[in-house]
Amino acid sequence: MKKPKVVVLRWGHRPKRDARLTTHVALTARALGAAGIIITDIEDEKIKGTVEKVVKNWGGPFFLEMGIPWQKTVEKWKEKGGIIVHLTAYGENIEESNVLERIKALKKDVLVIVGSQKVPREFFSEKVSDFNVAVGNQPHSECSSLAIFLDRYFNGKELTKNFENAKIRIIPQKRGKKIVKNDNF
Ligand SMILES: C[S@@+](CC[C@H](N)C(=O)[O-])C[C@H]1O[C@@H](n2cnc3c(N)ncnc32)[C@H](O)[C@@H]1O
Repeated sequence: MKKPKVVVLRWGHRPKRDARLTTHVALTARALGAAGIIITDIEDEKIKGTVEKVVKNWGGPFFLEMGIPWQKTVEKWKEKGGIIVHLTAYGENIEESNVLERIKALKKDVLVIVGSQKVPREFFSEKVSDFNVAVGNQPHSECSSLAIFLDRYFNGKELTKNFENAKIRIIPQKRGKKIVKNDNF
């Protein structure tokens, strides 16, 4: 049976203010096992260029879509039978509750919503989110909450993932830096 995939929905990106953070959300999503990221409601060519360059050099597969209204993204995801997890400090605590087991037990593709500014109220409702998950009930960041959620979802296995068509790979060292460059990994 095919493993369920995880895709990230980044809501509320403000091109001037959030460029670096949204790029980090995308890089976190890619490095920690998500299949892709959808930046809704807005186009930002600079982020697209940065992420595409990382995928070209460091491998994939990893997709980036942007500009689609969040409502459409949610609607399409649900139509295809996927579930939606909204990461929020107000949700069920990932450590204290069994919310992660309930998510995994469904064995369905997961769309993980992360916000930036205050998110629309509907994100908390059943109409949008199947689960509201808190990575601790203290406010922090979309990047840290996404990283911890993905790491727990994949049980750390994503940290040894083999990225396809990479031109550069790191050879882990106790000290210093070693990379190999290859066009035919
Ligand atoms: C800087 S926070 C936004 C806080 C905003 N003032 C609000 O009230 O929604 C940006 C995003 O980080 C994520 N986030 C922050 N803390 C979190 C936590 N403890 N658990 C899960 N997600 C969190 C959420 O996705 C949130 O939308």
